[in-house]
Amino acid sequence: MSDKNIVLNVNGIEVIYNHVILVLKGVSLQVPEQGIVSLLGGNGAGKTTTLRAISNLLKGERGDVTKGSIELRGERIENLTPADLVNRGVVQVMEGRHCFAHLSIEDNLLTGSYTRKDKGEIAANLDKVYTYFPRLKTRRTSQAAYTSGGEQQMCAIGRALMTNPSVMLLDEPSMGLALRSLKRCSTSSKT
Ligand SMILES: Nc1ncnc2c1ncn2[C@@H]1O[C@H](COP(=O)(O)OP(=O)(O)OP(=O)(O)O)[C@@H](O)[C@H]1O
Ligand SMILES: [Mg+2]
Repeated sequence: MSDKNIVLNVNGIEVIYNHVILVLKGVSLQVPEQGIVSLLGGNGAGKTTTLRAISNLLKGERGDVTKGSIELRGERIENLTPADLVNRGVVQVMEGRHCFAHLSIEDNLLTGSYTRKDKGEIAANLDKVYTYFPRLKTRRTSQAAYTSGGEQQMCAIGRALMTNPSVMLLDEPSMGLALRSLKRCSTSSKT
């Protein structure tokens, strides 16, 4: 595979929490254009930590990348803020849904498009999310707090899709979701 087909390149990273707890050592992975890469491992193996390192969400957990490099299309991204990364198309769906409980499903989805500059495309993007997850369309006016766990997971994934991302990092995406919901999303959103 040539280097120009690599979108995300994680090269030998080490992550330490609280300056002393070594959690990742020499972790490398590459995500090719239009590719899906799965991280498998037991509880505590370091999957969430790897994703947090890529989207630079470690600081809030007192974690640091102390070795190695992370590149997005050849450009080093370890020092970019999570907001910068979203602007560059890297978006993470965190483990555990994290919907805005008091907002409706549709308003939750629209928060994902808040930073977009192509405002004219948002309605079409929303339709696309409703095509992936018809259940969200049915529940669009419901307050997220009163929707089911699986519906909230669809909402969290849908909100990330509303940023029009080029790289999506999904932590435990299947949690609470029927397989057909995930399949519909992963087969139709490879761009
Ligand atoms: N904020 C933190 N401070 C200190 N140690 C942490 C922190 N977060 C995670 N760890 C430790 O890092 C290791 C990896 O945790 P991580 O959450 O990355 O695993 P995981 O593979 O996502 O596990 P799971 O399948 O249970 O979600 C664990 O030993 C965990 O105790
Ligand atoms: Mg985890």
